[in-house]
Amino acid sequence: MSKNIFRRKSVTKILADVECGFSDSEHPGTASTHLTKTLNVKDLTLMGIAAVVGAGIFSTIGEASFNGGPGVSILFIITAVTCGFSALCYAEFASRIPVAGSAYTYAYASFGELIAWIIGWDLLMEYAIGNIAVAISWSEYFVNLLEGFNIKMPAYLTMDYFSAFTAHEDVQRLTSSGHVAEITDRMKNAALAWNTAPGSGSFKIIANIPALLIVVAITYLVYIGIRETKKVTNAMVLLKIGVVIAVIILGCFYVTPANWSPFLPNGFGGVMKGVSGVFFAYIGFDAISTTAEECTNPQRDLPRGMIYSLIICTVLYVLIALVLTGMVSYKDLQVGDPLAFVFAKVGLKKISYVISISAVIATASVLLIFQLGQPRIWMSMSRDGLLPKAFSRIHPKFKTPSFATIVTGFVVAIPALFLNLTEVTNLTSIGTLFAFVLVCGGVLLLPKEAAQRGRFKLPYINAQWIVPVLYIVGVVIFWKPMLGIFTGTNVHQKFPYILFILLSTSLTILAFVKKLSLIPVLGLLSCFYLMAELEYESWIRFLAWLLIGLVIYFTYSYRNSVLGKEVNTPS
Ligand code: ALA
Repeated sequence: MSKNIFRRKSVTKILADVECGFSDSEHPGTASTHLTKTLNVKDLTLMGIAAVVGAGIFSTIGEASFNGGPGVSILFIITAVTCGFSALCYAEFASRIPVAGSAYTYAYASFGELIAWIIGWDLLMEYAIGNIAVAISWSEYFVNLLEGFNIKMPAYLTMDYFSAFTAHEDVQRLTSSGHVAEITDRMKNAALAWNTAPGSGSFKIIANIPALLIVVAITYLVYIGIRETKKVTNAMVLLKIGVVIAVIILGCFYVTPANWSPFLPNGFGGVMKGVSGVFFAYIGFDAISTTAEECTNPQRDLPRGMIYSLIICTVLYVLIALVLTGMVSYKDLQVGDPLAFVFAKVGLKKISYVISISAVIATASVLLIFQLGQPRIWMSMSRDGLLPKAFSRIHPKFKTPSFATIVTGFVVAIPALFLNLTEVTNLTSIGTLFAFVLVCGGVLLLPKEAAQRGRFKLPYINAQWIVPVLYIVGVVIFWKPMLGIFTGTNVHQKFPYILFILLSTSLTILAFVKKLSLIPVLGLLSCFYLMAELEYESWIRFLAWLLIGLVIYFTYSYRNSVLGKEVNTPS
C-alpha cells in the first residue's frame, strides 16, 4: 500500500487525458468533458484581480491595521513577496501542466496520489470555506447598503448564531459592570438579533439569509457558463479597481502624517497579528490556474495573468493601508467596513456610501471566481477516480461542470447561513498557505526540463550559499525569541514554530547539499513561516480537517483511483 499511495501521474499522461477529452466510454453517463477555450491574458489578469480584491481589502484590513498600526503596510509587502514566490512556482507548474485542477494536478505529478488528495481536500478549504467568509462579509456590506435605502431586514436574518449570542453576552456583561460606553453599535445590533429572534431559551432561529442568497445567485451564473462569467467578471473588476484608485487619490488629501507616528505602535508582534487577514486579502491569484483548459494559450498566459494581478494588487494594497492609517488613528480601525468608515469619519458621508456599493460589487466578484474554481478542482479529482464520476459531468449545453457546480453551491451556501467570519477567515488562510507550501515543494521535485518557446520557465538561482547565509542571519537575530519558544509556558501551543524551525533547518541542509533552486525554497519557507504565525486553534481545526480527508481517501478514493486500477491491471 505504501508504494501505491504515492503513485504518481506522469505529466505526459495528464496532458494526454485532457487531449482525449475523457471519452464517454471512460466515463459512462457523462456527455463530454471538454471545456470551451475563450480566456486570454487580459481576462486572466482581470480574473486574478477579481479573485483577490474583495473582503480582505474592504473588511479584514481593519482589524489588521488596528493591531499593527501604519506598519501593517510592511505586512502587505512581506505577504506579497511570499505570494510572489508561490505565484512563480504556480506559473512553472501551470505552464508545464496546463490542465484544470490547480495545485491538485501539480501535486499528483510531483508528490503522488496521497499528497494530491490532501491538497485537493485542502483546496476545498481555500475555495469553499474562503467563499463562506466572502459571502458573510458581502452580507454585512449589503445589509448596510439596504439601510442606506431605509430598508431594514430583521437583524436575526442577517448574521450567524454565534455572533448574536456572543454580542448578547457581552452587552449584558458590560451593562452589569457599568461599562455601557464600551457597547458599540455593532454589538447592539447583534444583541438585538438575539433578543428578537424567534425561539426560546438558547434555541433561536438566527441565520444569514443575504449570504445564502448571494451564493445561490452566483452559483447560477457560474452554472450557465464561462462566457457569461467572463463578461460579468471583467465589468465588475474594472469598476472595483476604479473605486479603489479613487479611494487612494481622494484619501491622500485627508492624510494627517502625524497618524503615521509611531509607525509600529505595537511592535513587529502587533503587525504579525494581522497575518490571517492580510494573507486572506491576497488569496485568489492562484485560482486562475483552475481555468487552464479554458485558456487560448495557457502556457504563456497563465503565468503572466497570475503575476500581473499580484503586482497590481500589491501596489493598491500598500497604498490603501497607508491612506487608511494616515486618515485616522489606527486605534479607530477595528471595524468591519474600514474603507467606508474612514471617509465617514472625515465627514465625507456620500463617498462612504459609494464605497459600500463598490464593496458589495467587489466581494460578489470574488465569490464568482471561487465558485468557478472549486467545481473544476472536483472535476479533476473525479476524472482521476478520487471522487464519484458525477463530479466530472459536463453540461451538454452550457459546457460547465454542472453537478460539481451545484454541489459547490450547497457546500458554500448552507454553512454561510450559520458560521462566524473570523473563524472561517483563519481556516481559509491556513489552508491556502499549506497549498502554497506544497506547490513550492512540488517545484523542487519536478524533473529538469529544457525550455520551450513561448513557455514560462522559473529562473534557476543556486540556493547553495544564499539559504545557509539567510539561515545564520535569522538565527543571530531571532535566537532570543527562539529560545523563548522552548522555555515559556504552554509549549504545546508553540508547536507550529517548532515545526518551522525543524523545516527551515532541514531545508537549509538540503539546499546546501543539493544546490536547490532558490525561489521555491524561499517560497516554501516564507509560506510556512506565515502559517506558524497563525493561532494554535486554527492549526488544530486544520489538522482535524485533514484527518477527515484522509478517512475519505482510504475508504473511497484509494480503492476507486483510476491510476490505482491501471497500476494493478497486468498488461
Ligand atoms: N482575496 C479574497 C478577498 O479578499 C479572498 O476577498
